[in-house]
Amino acid sequence: MRDTRSILAERLQAAFDTVEPGADPVLRLSEHADLQANGALALAKRLRRPPRPLAEEIAAAADLADVCRSVDVSGPGFLNLVLSDDFVAGQVAAMAADDRLGVPLAADPAVVVVDYSAPNVAKEMHVGHLRSTIIGDALARMAGHAGHQVVRENHVGDWGTPFGMLIEHLVDLGEEKAVHDLSVGDLDAFYRQARSSFDGDPSFQERSRRRVVLLQSGDPDTIRLWRVLVGQSVAYFDEVYAKLGVLLTDGDVVGESFYNPMLPGVVEDLDKLGLLQEDDGARCVFPPGFANRSGDPLPLIVQKSDGGFGYGATDLAAIRDRVQRLGATQILYVVGAPQAQHLQMCMAVARMAGWLPDSVEAVHVAFGNVLAPDRKMLRSRSGESVKLVDLLDEGVRRAADALAERGGDLPVASRAAVARALGVGAVKYADLSTDRARDYVFDWDRMLGFEGDTGPYLQYAHARIRSIFRRGRVEPPPPGTRPVLAEPAERALALHLLGFAGALDAARSAQAPSRLAGYLFDLAATFTAFYEQCPVLKAEGQVRAGRLALADLVARTLARGLDLLGMEAPQQM
Ligand code: ARG
Repeated sequence: MRDTRSILAERLQAAFDTVEPGADPVLRLSEHADLQANGALALAKRLRRPPRPLAEEIAAAADLADVCRSVDVSGPGFLNLVLSDDFVAGQVAAMAADDRLGVPLAADPAVVVVDYSAPNVAKEMHVGHLRSTIIGDALARMAGHAGHQVVRENHVGDWGTPFGMLIEHLVDLGEEKAVHDLSVGDLDAFYRQARSSFDGDPSFQERSRRRVVLLQSGDPDTIRLWRVLVGQSVAYFDEVYAKLGVLLTDGDVVGESFYNPMLPGVVEDLDKLGLLQEDDGARCVFPPGFANRSGDPLPLIVQKSDGGFGYGATDLAAIRDRVQRLGATQILYVVGAPQAQHLQMCMAVARMAGWLPDSVEAVHVAFGNVLAPDRKMLRSRSGESVKLVDLLDEGVRRAADALAERGGDLPVASRAAVARALGVGAVKYADLSTDRARDYVFDWDRMLGFEGDTGPYLQYAHARIRSIFRRGRVEPPPPGTRPVLAEPAERALALHLLGFAGALDAARSAQAPSRLAGYLFDLAATFTAFYEQCPVLKAEGQVRAGRLALADLVARTLARGLDLLGMEAPQQM
């Protein structure tokens, strides 16, 4: 099927072209009509013509008879478009008959690298990684669904000087004990102990330094111990990912160590390009436009004075690899806002070096903090950062309690699975439904509520529609069934359904899952209003079939949308 809005856009474009080829019709959703085209105003100004007659001329030229009930000029020269019920019903039927629910596949598929999650070996995942993981996963799903080729990359922190002390700590603990501690997910304790030996014991410190040298020179036994550390941590991350229900697997791990062999080449090539400068013994690039508070140019350090490489070198090697080996045409960095400047500098240097051509888009998909209800950073009772697994387990436990309290007719056998879907979904939805740049307050009671803009509300809306079919012992009507649209609530619901493809496209192009979340919330609310005003099972004939078709399409759209946000949509709750 063709998207409703693009049909209108195309017809209007042809009409605007008769006045000035290429003039933008400026098509928008409208409060006064279904859609409005505001482009005549700007065009009139440019042509120094009175806007109203110009709008009349465009309206007369527009071939809209088969799609619009009325095309009116209003105010100073807006075109108000009311779609014909016949056209809307036909579009809804076509959407229902389409497995993709009217979402087109990209005509020109991009290769999208999504850099997300990126926890650090032998360190607990914190809420910052939670946000990156949830947002990145939604973006990867949306891009894949739009027909783009998606490469998920988990840029795990698995290399660098801390590994000297971590490996020595592993040796001191004994491999077996270390493996056990790490496998039960006590990553922070492991790291803390290593740190305290390092800070308190000069001989441990010395061993750690030697160990770093051994690691960097590829000493086989050291590499083996390093692999143990990385392997245990990655296995633990996988458990968290499975709990979260995200797409990431260990096949997506492309850690910092992967780029390590490329770092000397990065520095050498920057040198050949004449981009390197010495600063305090470190080798740096000064990309134009970056300055510190006192206005001095800021360096991106690629090689420190001790010969070690900086994060800058690793991120540059990653850009080069993504463009050259993977053929990326878009790179999304789902990384917290504090790293904005570092990433912008890396991108700027990569552009200067020609490793990030203009044809490749690199975007920092930044996000804000997760706050506790007192608006301080979210921490556990003992003041440490909250363990992600604990957070998810608590969500599931609370969801199970909420389900039990509601009673309902949910079979005992599916209670645990539904509690999981609700608890994890609540956490994801609370995150994805807020504008990602903003901080948000982590508040279980609000997140898990069945009312309001929450995950459970949307999941419940879906399950309730499914229960209409269960209760009525009816199957959804065959695809192609046209809704009747005699009632305003039917028409409003139909129109909202037709906005699905547009909402997805907007969410994807702005890297804003909150747009999709907002669309789904409005869809559920529009359905609720429809359901209050329009009996479904009690209606008869064509009206009943049409309403069942609308209800079924709403449920499918909710389920698809939730899936693209990484959420489950249980059939029954
Ligand atoms: N491992 C880092 C952290 O935990 C995040 C890395 C982000 N990705 C990147 N390409 N720099 O803070």
